[in-house]
Amino acid sequence: MNSGKVVSTSERIEKLLRLLADGRFHSGEDLAQQLSVSRTAIWKLIQKIESWQINIFSVRGKGHQISGGLRLLDKDLLTQSLKNNKYFKQIDVLTSVDSTADYMARQWRLSPGVGRVCVAEHQTAGRGRKGRSWISPFAANLYFSIGVELPLGLSALGGLSLAIGLSMVQTINQLAETPVKIKWPNDLLVNHQKVAGILVEANGESHDTSFLNIGVGINWDMQHQQGEPIDQPWANLKPLLVKSVTRNELLAKLLVDLDETLNIYQQQGFEPFSSLWPALSAVYQQPVHIITPQDTYSGTEAGIESNGALRLETPQGIKIFHSGEVSLRKVLD
Ligand code: BTN
Repeated sequence: MNSGKVVSTSERIEKLLRLLADGRFHSGEDLAQQLSVSRTAIWKLIQKIESWQINIFSVRGKGHQISGGLRLLDKDLLTQSLKNNKYFKQIDVLTSVDSTADYMARQWRLSPGVGRVCVAEHQTAGRGRKGRSWISPFAANLYFSIGVELPLGLSALGGLSLAIGLSMVQTINQLAETPVKIKWPNDLLVNHQKVAGILVEANGESHDTSFLNIGVGINWDMQHQQGEPIDQPWANLKPLLVKSVTRNELLAKLLVDLDETLNIYQQQGFEPFSSLWPALSAVYQQPVHIITPQDTYSGTEAGIESNGALRLETPQGIKIFHSGEVSLRKVLD
């Protein structure tokens, strides 16, 4: 029976995906009935889903199947895990979005001051640092953004993205068989291959309050042929973790631990995190290049300052960097 409720294409796609997530064959007729649309409409929805690099097998007489099924993000589990958080307690679980970072900025304009998270199965315009795009195939990885207001001015946020990266390394390593490390400022690596990236965007409207839009992308179980090629060495996190950990469990744990990290940072700044650096840096006391818009500097990574700036030991003495990119590639080549 038609309830009269207008159902959007994205709601239909979500319903279709949830039906196909079991990995079994579903006939076109059955799917059409469940979604209250025609079989032609089902075909169109399937084409849309296939454009997100999900393979759907369609066999005459049997129907449609996603081989191996999908383990989708679980809104109930994630919402439950946030209940004791201080800064963000609500989560939007999206099927597809341009970018969770852009979605978060839009939500913040609509309801400023409400801390929240959004996570998406797929991004059509995921953004990385330095204007790069972030390849975001459906249900293969984790893409999430946290929007919070902190009672700190922009000048006090210098070490925040590093604190977030160090916190994530600690959380992940509690679940990992092969530990990950951090490359300044905030790439998570295993064997010099990137498993996660962090993009923190901060807006300060006054000297004592800032809005933070913390975006995290984690390569979880991405096929090498999925999407456009990635212009740097990368690896998946899933095979590094103890077998039973799911994408939902990892995200739930990260969100709890990141809330706690924001609390520590608000009270004590970067100081409590700085001692973690020597053990968790991927290149501590190793040769690196630091690339800045002006120049490239060579030397040995000599740890970080108490505000999160990087120390590079060069023949001319210690140089301190507040921004820039650590390059391993040229050193390793
Ligand atoms: C980097 O370049 O290392 C940072 C990558 C950050 C990617 C994440 S995915 C979720 C959020 N949405 C985006 O568009 N970007 C961030």
